[in-house]
Amino acid sequence: MAGKGVFKDMIDGEVYKYYADGEWKRSASGGTVSILNPSTRKPQYKVQACTQDEVNKIFDSAKAAQKLWAKTPLWKRAEALHRAAAILKENKVAIAEALVKEVAKPQKDAVTEVVRSGDLISYTAEEGIRILSEGKFLVSDSFPGNDRNKLCMSSKIPLGVVLAIPPFNYPVNLAVSKIGPALIAGNALVLKPPTQGAVSCLHMVHCFHLAGFPKGLISAVTGKGSEIGDFLTMHPMVNCISFTGGDTGIAIARKASMIPLQMELGGKDACIVLEDADLDLAASNIVKGGYSYSGQRCTAVKVVLAFESIADMLVAKVNAKIAKLTVGPPEEDSDITPVVSESSANFIEGLVKDAREKGAKFHQEWKRDGNLIWPVLIDHVRPDMRIAWEEPFGPVLPVIRIKTVEEGIHHCNANNFGLQGCVFTKDINKAIMIADAMETGTVQINSAPARGPDHFPFQGIRDSGIGSQGITNSINMMTKIKSTVINLPGASYQMG
Ligand code: G3H
Repeated sequence: MAGKGVFKDMIDGEVYKYYADGEWKRSASGGTVSILNPSTRKPQYKVQACTQDEVNKIFDSAKAAQKLWAKTPLWKRAEALHRAAAILKENKVAIAEALVKEVAKPQKDAVTEVVRSGDLISYTAEEGIRILSEGKFLVSDSFPGNDRNKLCMSSKIPLGVVLAIPPFNYPVNLAVSKIGPALIAGNALVLKPPTQGAVSCLHMVHCFHLAGFPKGLISAVTGKGSEIGDFLTMHPMVNCISFTGGDTGIAIARKASMIPLQMELGGKDACIVLEDADLDLAASNIVKGGYSYSGQRCTAVKVVLAFESIADMLVAKVNAKIAKLTVGPPEEDSDITPVVSESSANFIEGLVKDAREKGAKFHQEWKRDGNLIWPVLIDHVRPDMRIAWEEPFGPVLPVIRIKTVEEGIHHCNANNFGLQGCVFTKDINKAIMIADAMETGTVQINSAPARGPDHFPFQGIRDSGIGSQGITNSINMMTKIKSTVINLPGASYQMG
């Protein structure tokens, strides 16, 4: 159970502690931050409202711990990560319980998120051993005036302290996708969990605690954005920020100092369906891609661009599948569960209202109960409707009918976002040409967008982010190159 058994040290009365210096602590502020259960809309958990002074102490210990960790043999770092992965998986039920209660993730998906996270950590340990054990060796005689008397050895070294800020929708998985690479590369890690999802994150951090990482190497600080948000992201001891979330990432990028940034900031992933597509395959992927976790995934299908000639048939198939989706509480493993907050639900309702007023066609009745929104497919959407461009992060999906491939590509590229896109066709040549023309970080051919498998490169362009994720890219991103040049005496070769 969340907060009990092996997790009992994390909680004080009904408030979860923050993690610093290898211990669970109460904040001197005496304040707390409340986390609402999206289903009941009542307070579910409380976490500490940490102070700037506590943040400063966390960075001091992180810096000290990192110096020693960087000298810890790679195989030992990998062993510790494997231990954390095993402990995480052993405690999947307790962690899933927190995911269900604070982000309304369907029970089964919550367990899957924890298991996927354990797998990700183990792979990261192995990949780290492979890529961090390699160096590069150059000799100097490629440029005029040089001889073979200089030898350059380069290897990857840690950046220092990495600040990780995961989002509410994958608080465990998108946290470990930052923690694993940071630690295997020899960095220290400061985690700022999202408010909604904080308790799941803290449980995951406790698994790292139980795995026996050195004190101060990992910390988790909770609190109010107004008090510690900018203070954390602009802190002079942060050497790298890895953030996943919404627009806040753009503000962070503007304020951060000259440090590497890895940002994943949402998307409006387009799904282009051509006349020759397998419509059953496209419909299944549209429903899975558009409505799983109630559309609250940055990689969700967020606009369908269907050829006019097949649109009616495709829409009918999608509607038939939507009719089978179950709607209800996450504890019952419903397909559609409450969205994360009332303000999200209001935002989604605003997009729907705008589309309705401008003449879009609704195939399902609009229904909302608190944060629970019944799935809708909004047809005959036109570019003057907000839903054509904005990211609802909810179970509502617009369909735009197109006459040409160019029209589809144009809509995809005219968007501020550029995370992923997908194209359905049986013509592989066309698929590749369209994929080439779509200005997104990834294009999926005949499947819905998705981040995983977790070692694939994952990146967005424009407002969808900067830097590339995926295990290998994240490890590389959280290191820098160090070169040592050996200068041998004199030239050994003379022309003529
Ligand atoms: O919400 C953003 C996530 O990176 C999406 O991950 O494709 O595994 O659902 P996913």
